[in-house]
Amino acid sequence: MKSILITGGAGYVGTLLTDQLLQKNYKVLVYDTFWFGDFISNHKNLIKIKGDIRDINKISEIKENIDVAIHLACISNDNTFELNPKLSEEINYNSFSPLLKILKQKGVKRFINASSSSVYGFSDNPNVTEEHPLLPLTLYNKFKGMCEPILFENHSSDFVCINVRPATVCGCSPRMRFDLSVNILTHLATKKKEITVFGGKQMRPNLHIKDMCNFYEYLIEADPELVGMETFNISDENISIENIALKIKNIFFEKFNIDINIKKTESEDDKRSYHLNSNKIKEKLNFNIKYKVDDAILDIYSVLQSGQHKDSLDNDIYYNIKTLKKLNIT
Ligand SMILES: NC(=O)c1ccc[n+]([C@@H]2O[C@H](COP(=O)([O-])OP(=O)(O)OC[C@H]3O[C@@H](n4cnc5c(N)ncnc54)[C@H](O)[C@@H]3O)[C@@H](O)[C@H]2O)c1
Repeated sequence: MKSILITGGAGYVGTLLTDQLLQKNYKVLVYDTFWFGDFISNHKNLIKIKGDIRDINKISEIKENIDVAIHLACISNDNTFELNPKLSEEINYNSFSPLLKILKQKGVKRFINASSSSVYGFSDNPNVTEEHPLLPLTLYNKFKGMCEPILFENHSSDFVCINVRPATVCGCSPRMRFDLSVNILTHLATKKKEITVFGGKQMRPNLHIKDMCNFYEYLIEADPELVGMETFNISDENISIENIALKIKNIFFEKFNIDINIKKTESEDDKRSYHLNSNKIKEKLNFNIKYKVDDAILDIYSVLQSGQHKDSLDNDIYYNIKTLKKLNIT
């Protein structure tokens, strides 16, 4: 049985991925600070370790054998410099090289890195492929981009390094986030029957969380000749924020009316705009995206209707930056 370490395994993507890998008969070690709680169901092949990726000693003390590491731990979404920039730098950049080195020393054979398609920042190019230059607009995407060359410096046939640049993820996870574009808008539409869009023309790529998890699962076993030292964009539909709002309005028009307010904005975050091309995963790997943004919208709606996340408008746990500010993490 292969053993998979997931840093940030208690997060939005990590919680669903952990469940999926356990179902597929992998042993999973979740290494996480658990800042957003613990929504992972117990399982005989699961080990949860509460720890910080900055604490290399703690990682070196892990006794279990690890075959593959999937690195998700990160300060996500700090696009607006709301948190201490030092904290983002320490977690999202400074700890990266020591983490790679210690895992390599421990005999890990494969390292899958979650970068982000937001590293492309802004582009008019209708086809932003993996070769497109990076234009970091925020600290978050600057550090994501700076980790990538460090990742590949560590690549070898015994330590296969793979870089993934996912689009903005949408859909449901036991550890839910309502601070990601499709999730935010669907949540507001369902709860308030009103959506406010800032700017609106920014083009954003989107990806269903189940496709995200399927891709990480695929990469665990993928031929190292095909995936080693490679970067992969992964997205489904590129849609402007305004059109995501319209899509939601259309999906629900028979149930209820949704008011869409469009506001002008000057914020840094809203400058991100690019049209992601993810053909490489299909052409090189024959990996197919299965889910649509519509599926995510309907899933979120039915989860909210079923009474889950009752306090979603008020509870900071659903919003990363609000939670981290409250916890006063240093
Ligand atoms: N969600 C998206 O839309 C998206 C898009 C592109 C890339 N990504 C990347 O995918 C990864 C997972 O995203 P997510 O949405 O699940 O994020 P998330 O914020 O829900 O999860 C991150 C997890 O990492 C943990 N963590 C943070 N700092 C840590 C530290 N120092 N040590 C140990 N654990 C720590 C947190 O407690 C959290 O459980 C991130 O690296 C993110 O940048 C996400």
